[in-house]
Amino acid sequence: MDGRLLIFSGSANPDLAREIATSLRMTVGRAMVGQFKNGETRIKLHDNVRGCDVFVIQPTCIPVDHHLMQLLLLIDALRRASARRVTAVIPYYGYAKQEKKTAGREPISAKLVANLIRTAGADRVLTMDLHAPAIEGFFDIPVDHLQAAPLLSDYIHGLNLPNPVVISPDAGGVGRANRFRERIGAGLAIIAKQRPEPDTAEVLEMVGDVEGKTAIIVDDMISTGGTLVEAAVALIERGASKVYACATHGVFAADALEHIAHSELIETIVTNTIPQSPTAPDARVRVISVAPLFAEAIMRIHKDLSLSALFS
Ligand code: R5P
Repeated sequence: MDGRLLIFSGSANPDLAREIATSLRMTVGRAMVGQFKNGETRIKLHDNVRGCDVFVIQPTCIPVDHHLMQLLLLIDALRRASARRVTAVIPYYGYAKQEKKTAGREPISAKLVANLIRTAGADRVLTMDLHAPAIEGFFDIPVDHLQAAPLLSDYIHGLNLPNPVVISPDAGGVGRANRFRERIGAGLAIIAKQRPEPDTAEVLEMVGDVEGKTAIIVDDMISTGGTLVEAAVALIERGASKVYACATHGVFAADALEHIAHSELIETIVTNTIPQSPTAPDARVRVISVAPLFAEAIMRIHKDLSLSALFS
């Protein structure tokens, strides 16, 4: 790709943007990302971007609408300032849970958000562990879809846990859990979960033997923490000796960290796709940085190199 490589960031995760830029021996581009007094988002780029290959780093985490709007306006500003190519780097893609209609008269929010990002002027998307892989197809532009599994499984592998068994906390996550299991050479168990209402989780049944084993729950995100906490209770009831959890996106909505702090979980491992505050030490949350992986992906996209090697 011709054109200078530049990185910009909204206010969603400036630390991650800085870490990525540092890995690339660069600094984050100068921009004002603020608000007018009437509550509207205000953007002003301070650096010249004409002819540049620009990557905008912005996970659409809480407050989701605010961060999404910043992303859209940053892309629009870059387009209008004649950037040659704009890549939306969305380490955590919000609205992904609403990727299909589960009942009549509901939106497909993940599709609408994909349309908005494209309409704003993004040429490509770089993201990580979409809640549903099908969301990639909602975009009519190239999407590079990274996985945190190599990072998370390396960490778990390093713990040398005795007799490990990987747990999928719901039927939809079996493929993810199975790939994780293969990486660390563990067994597999599957939980059948139901949601009596939005944001509450209930364990129905479990398939697989966890008796006397170290259980590692693998999920894409932790939102209210209900899935994890309920799964941990069910695992201990069925004889698991210890329970760990791994998830790419630590959303930790509402009082999720409090619930986790009082749960059976020994340690919960997440990445920094969403900024993590060290305010709940009792929750025993470990954060693994995805910055080097995103930096490498950005460099490869910029140089038109393959990304396949990053998935292994
Ligand atoms: C299931 O749909 C997802 O993979 C996660 O299990 C879910 O998003 C976690 O949500 P919560 O923490 O609110 O139970």
